[in-house]
Amino acid sequence: VKRVTTHVLSEMKLRGEKISMLTAYDYSMGRLVDEAGIDVILVGDSASNVMAGHETTLPITLDQMIYHGKSVVKAVNRALVVVDLPFGTYQGDSKEALISSIRIMKETHADAVKMEGGKEVIQSVERILSAGIPVMGHLGLMPQSIHKYGTYTVRAKQDAEAEKLIEDARLLEEAGCFAIVLEKIPASLGERVAKELKIPVIGIGAGGGVDGQVLVIHDMLGITQEFSPRFLRRYHNLATEIKGAVGNYIQDVKSQDFPNEKEQY
Ligand code: KIV
Ligand code: NA
Repeated sequence: VKRVTTHVLSEMKLRGEKISMLTAYDYSMGRLVDEAGIDVILVGDSASNVMAGHETTLPITLDQMIYHGKSVVKAVNRALVVVDLPFGTYQGDSKEALISSIRIMKETHADAVKMEGGKEVIQSVERILSAGIPVMGHLGLMPQSIHKYGTYTVRAKQDAEAEKLIEDARLLEEAGCFAIVLEKIPASLGERVAKELKIPVIGIGAGGGVDGQVLVIHDMLGITQEFSPRFLRRYHNLATEIKGAVGNYIQDVKSQDFPNEKEQY
């Protein structure tokens, strides 16, 4: 199989082929998503929510991200694997950002790291890139800043915030990021940024004018039940199917239908 590289992604943008990206946090799901043909797998810090049950992405640690990253990388033959730098491991201190990124690359064997922010983290971005580690940016709604926003509502609807986002996107491209994620912003702004940048822009709730799309796998499979923002398309209702299957198993155990004659030694 021809592996997806950062170079392959930029070629996809050039020829107008949209980039598909999903999260995965473990070996089994990573394998399924890779075998289905996804271009990019994000070991997102959304693991804090969907794996660990935290309300925000802030509590997840670098060690935990590395555990998830390792598990996914073992399963993947084709997709580009990106691991999120968790909250508190890269902001404000570019040396710490580099050390965190080196740990991720050495211990997980992932292809790249992702971090939230523009101008505020640009020194960290530059220092990581100078070590030869590819960086994916993340602008718009940045869940690690939820306590600053106070709400998960759509970002950059006002001109000032939109202008800052465009400026940050330019800075990230100039610094050398290979792609950026734009989360929950107006479609017109997403399209404008994608047109202005040469690097691929991957959206989640950023409309159809960007260069690719990303969703959290537990959301698009319908494993998470309460979360239903407008941008989320559910491709399955796995919560219902899993609960149905578990219910049938319970019934069969209680009624002694399971195991039958052929299911024992
Ligand atoms: O952590 C995550 O899942 C993400 C995506 C939503 C882009 O950052
Ligand atoms: Na994330």
